[in-house]
Amino acid sequence: MDRYTKTGILCAGIAAPSADNSQPWRFEWRGDDLDLRIDASRSGHVSDTRYVLSDLAAGACLENMVIHAGSLGYVADLQPFPQPDDELWVARIRWRRDRERALPEPLAAAIEQRHTDRRFPWRGPITTATQARLDAQARLIPGQRLWWPQTARERNAARSVIRQAETLRFKSPTLHAELFSSIRFAAGWHTACEEGLAPMTLAVEPPLRPAFQAMRRPAVMSVLNRLGAASVLGWRSAWLPIRLSPGLCLLVIPSTARSDVLAGGRALQRVWLQATLDGLSVQPYAAAGVLSLGFVPVEPAFQQTLSRLGSALHDLCAPGYGLVFLRLGHAQSAPRDRSGRRAPGSFGALP
Ligand SMILES: Cc1cc2nc3c(=O)[nH]c(=O)nc-3n(C[C@H](O)[C@H](O)[C@H](O)COP(=O)(O)O)c2cc1C
Repeated sequence: MDRYTKTGILCAGIAAPSADNSQPWRFEWRGDDLDLRIDASRSGHVSDTRYVLSDLAAGACLENMVIHAGSLGYVADLQPFPQPDDELWVARIRWRRDRERALPEPLAAAIEQRHTDRRFPWRGPITTATQARLDAQARLIPGQRLWWPQTARERNAARSVIRQAETLRFKSPTLHAELFSSIRFAAGWHTACEEGLAPMTLAVEPPLRPAFQAMRRPAVMSVLNRLGAASVLGWRSAWLPIRLSPGLCLLVIPSTARSDVLAGGRALQRVWLQATLDGLSVQPYAAAGVLSLGFVPVEPAFQQTLSRLGSALHDLCAPGYGLVFLRLGHAQSAPRDRSGRRAPGSFGALP
């Protein structure tokens, strides 16, 4: 495998999504084998206890690399978690040239275009043919599936679970600190940044920006919360956009074993790339699924809310664990505001 091909594979991996744009990946080449590791300095904190978010991002990164290499005629032999006592070593990938199996990889064309879009309202429809294509992509990764609310009751219940989880991100001092520490206010409202959340990608309306920025201070958030701010934010950031979008689905993983979460990240990425090819905008909502797994150390006062959320999610999508909701719809225009990435050399030695 030449250097150009290896660099192309890394760039495809780095284009993957990650929670709060944390990009928690490390790459190490050993000849033509590639080790994918989780970056200890960018993972394992608060919501990422037990590496759920990092494993999802690693799965998405892995899938991008497999799809890109596949489009060049390489097959990947994957060994997930090759050394159980090394919790940061996510996968070893052995690349094989297979001229016979040079299948077209339509998803490869969407790797660079895929992005998170937090705007609304979005229009429809999400046709049954589109749903079937997204379902098929999820199921290509063994054990993974999408759940779609079928009735008004299920749609309301899903929206309510997501709203409550998003509300908690502003109510819990621990989650509030984590959320606001990932927002790069220093970049201003018009510039991208290479890591973390650029304010311009958050779709906050201009008149609300000063108030939103002030909320990064715990004392301000605490005062505003006495006036009900967290509930308004949960409604504005989740309930309303979802209500005004035609599609919502949930990635369901079979167990919380790390190999299944990693596989969930692979399925998430296939679904997102297919949605991109179908012209859909996508915003993930991970708080409901991830917080209700019970691994995140939130204040005791919120534990009961979390266990209620877990039961409500389970009632909706059992068997399995609903992990990431995807809001879907057709945006009127392509977004100008996209998240940046760090330079490839910062993810480990270049090939
Ligand atoms: C596991 C995971 C969880 C995410 N959770 C959320 C979320 O709850 N809300 C949200 O708006 N975006 C969420 N995102 C989107 C990321 O913030 C986004 O991928 C990142 O900022 C990079 O931007 P891009 O997707 O446009 O490349 C999530 C992404 C991943 C992979």
